Amino acid sequence: MKRVTKAVFPAAGMGTRFLPATKANPKEMLPIVDKPLIQYAVEEAVAAGITDLIFIIGRTKRAIADHFDKAYELEVELEMKGKLKALEQLRGMLPDNVNCIYIRQAEALGLGHAVLCAEPAVNDEPFVVLLADDLIDATPGVTKQMCDLYDYYQCSVVGVQNVDPEDTASYGIVAGDRMSEKVMRMTHIVEKPKPSEAPSTMGVVGRYVLTPRIFHHLRQIERGAGGELQLTDAIQSLLREQQVLAYQFDGVRYDCGSKIGYLEATVEYALKHPELSEAFRDYLQCRFCASAEELRRGFSSPEAD
Ligand code: UTP
Repeated sequence: MKRVTKAVFPAAGMGTRFLPATKANPKEMLPIVDKPLIQYAVEEAVAAGITDLIFIIGRTKRAIADHFDKAYELEVELEMKGKLKALEQLRGMLPDNVNCIYIRQAEALGLGHAVLCAEPAVNDEPFVVLLADDLIDATPGVTKQMCDLYDYYQCSVVGVQNVDPEDTASYGIVAGDRMSEKVMRMTHIVEKPKPSEAPSTMGVVGRYVLTPRIFHHLRQIERGAGGELQLTDAIQSLLREQQVLAYQFDGVRYDCGSKIGYLEATVEYALKHPELSEAFRDYLQCRFCASAEELRRGFSSPEAD
């Protein structure tokens, strides 16, 4: 049985929802408190036993390679200044047995195309796809949960969650036959359906375990929703010859590709951060107490005052 050891991180999108922040910097380098999104995704993958990290990068994506490279000068500087905690953090970012591979997607033709760009590095092996802008707080991590399912069923697994019926046009939506409380055998998957056409409210989030057969289907598909080569369409095609599971993972997901999801994640991760939680909680309490007081004063009539 082949264990999953390779992960693909598509990070060559345009990030238009975060412009101008993403004009010269990739969306995946936006920090949640003090770590970029891509590092959270890498840590999740490494915790699941992944040893080959394959980054699909685009025009502005040198920052990602720089982030994971060793920074000799910075390390020497930190050592000289006695900033040993920061030094330790930098040195411990990636275990020694982990290998980084960078592949360029010359044109942002869609997520399906980005995954296809990884084929020369993935070869004939099962692999994980992680979209770093879907930050998922889970123990164990969602990638580990999904790799365990892959080990058991030996087929592709797609991470899903129940979404607001009005939001189906923002997701790939799946339909299927329930096998257990959290696992469905997928029968259908469609990209960004209108609420009236959605087969369910089970939306795909950015975690996939895929068999290498997906590459064959990625080569066959045509441009789909938004004029892009959609991974969803290749999965629909894969379904005709292989079983694919939809897995309702345990964990809280933040859509950090949207500004509101990004802000929610920032607040929640700051509240959990060992150095910040107390001060930040105090700040929020003062802020909201003040707001409540302001509101109360604003609404009360002059006579009452
Ligand atoms: P999104 O649909 O979030 O698109 O891509 P985007 O371009 O990143 O952001 P917006 O919608 O313009 O704000 C989902 C994931 O697929 C990657 C993105 O980097 C993101 O991780 N992607 C998308 C690619 O790597 N290449 C592409 O051609 C498209």
